[in-house]
Amino acid sequence: MEKQSELSKAKQIDNNERGQWSSKIGFLMASIGSSVGLGNIWGFPYKMGANGGFAFLIIYLALLVFVGFAALLGEFTLGRMTGEGIIGTYRTLNKKFTFVGWFGVISAFLVISFYCVLGGFVLRYAVGFLMEIFSAGSGFGGLGSGEFFGSFIVNGFSSAFYFFIFLGLTSVIVMGGVKGGLEKFTTFAMPTLSIIMIIVIIKSLTLEGAIEGVKFMFEPNWQAFSEIGFVKILKTAAGQMFFSLSLGMGIMVIYGSYLSKQEDIQKSSIVIGVADTIFAVLAGLMIMPAVGAFMAQGVEGITYGAGPGLLFITMHQVFSVGMGGFMGNLFGFMFYMLVFFAAITSSISVLEVCIAFFVDKRLKEGKSSQRIKITAIVCIVIFILGLPVTLDGLGSGTAGGAAIDIPAVMFGMSEVRVAFDCWLDFYDMISEGLLMPLGTMLMCLFIGWIIGTKAIVKELEETPKVKIISYRFWEICFKYIAPVIVFIVFLGQIDDFFGLGIF
Ligand code: PHE
Repeated sequence: MEKQSELSKAKQIDNNERGQWSSKIGFLMASIGSSVGLGNIWGFPYKMGANGGFAFLIIYLALLVFVGFAALLGEFTLGRMTGEGIIGTYRTLNKKFTFVGWFGVISAFLVISFYCVLGGFVLRYAVGFLMEIFSAGSGFGGLGSGEFFGSFIVNGFSSAFYFFIFLGLTSVIVMGGVKGGLEKFTTFAMPTLSIIMIIVIIKSLTLEGAIEGVKFMFEPNWQAFSEIGFVKILKTAAGQMFFSLSLGMGIMVIYGSYLSKQEDIQKSSIVIGVADTIFAVLAGLMIMPAVGAFMAQGVEGITYGAGPGLLFITMHQVFSVGMGGFMGNLFGFMFYMLVFFAAITSSISVLEVCIAFFVDKRLKEGKSSQRIKITAIVCIVIFILGLPVTLDGLGSGTAGGAAIDIPAVMFGMSEVRVAFDCWLDFYDMISEGLLMPLGTMLMCLFIGWIIGTKAIVKELEETPKVKIISYRFWEICFKYIAPVIVFIVFLGQIDDFFGLGIF
């Protein structure tokens, strides 16, 4: 009874103050906009590159089917059930689980702090190509792709400047609220991005030697599992999937809370999971063939396992050398602008989680939301958190050694120094590596064992004419498969973190 009344109280706030999606397509676009971003275009290719190509892809797809879909479905449904953000959702359904909501909020702060730094990198490249259009050599100082990247990341001031701009733009959109900002922006950006990606893929595939990259992605190479390690590939693929689908942070809970009962959540979850994966594979197809081609041509600094710089270095090379001239610069500019759009539709969703917590709290206390003021304060905190990421040059910068030693000092363990190359890695490891999987595992356990899959299905069935694919399937995912897989991932992470060498 008490729960019922809390639920309806939450719903009232929802209807009065929180807003709803104005259309089905708006919701889908915003969810796809949140999930498609740097995770797909920057993270997926470089992680696949360093983790055996095909082997990584196969594991990723399996994870999507058995964990990803269920987790998306779970988050949307919990959100629609309670009409609240992640902390409020758990508090309403079962107070003991409120801490799971906290994991999400902490992850959101960490993720956005490095995400906006990377978004700044993307912006720098867009500006670079734009300047090149007007005068050759002005955008990238006449440097080659590898050299330019190396010199840019160690320039702390420049990274911090672009980080500031990217974060500022994100906050302006978030201040506009759900309807004003989010929906309109994404509905335009996503389709345009896919068109330009296809053009770039065609260019990549027609470079000489590109076939090597295609083979790297699609030719079965089971020995990668023993060479690299099954758990390591599983763990990286899982982290990547949580990140890419924007899971474990309550983003999809919030988006679900803006949903009306007319929306078929089951279908939407599958559409969103598939769309996100298509974008990741497209990004792979854009980058891997180019890597294969440039490696065959002996271009310096380009390998599959190049790490976080892969997107920047390889794509720069594709445009400036592979295409070259005016067309190369023009496409380079368009490409990085669209990646920038994709990134910003994701960063707004993360920022939304950071502020929703404070906004919801005020609304509950009967105060005005103060959305703009809260956004501004939260952004200052994020800027401070992100500064070390801009200053250590991804581990190669001048301040690198000193900066990244801080966690080692904090934890008093020299091994920590080994686990992270840079601050970005550190934030990434805590969020994508630990808290997001853990949050998702607990959510699945919560659904499977505490409130019951039945409760979820009941909420799904409030949509008229909905057909549940298979109750058993969802139940098995929530109760067993997802928690077990995430537990292995978690062990793998702990193993790495402490250098135990179990796997
Ligand atoms: N999913 C987004 C991407 O792939 C990033 C993101 C992570 C957004 C976590 C929200 C939450 O780029």
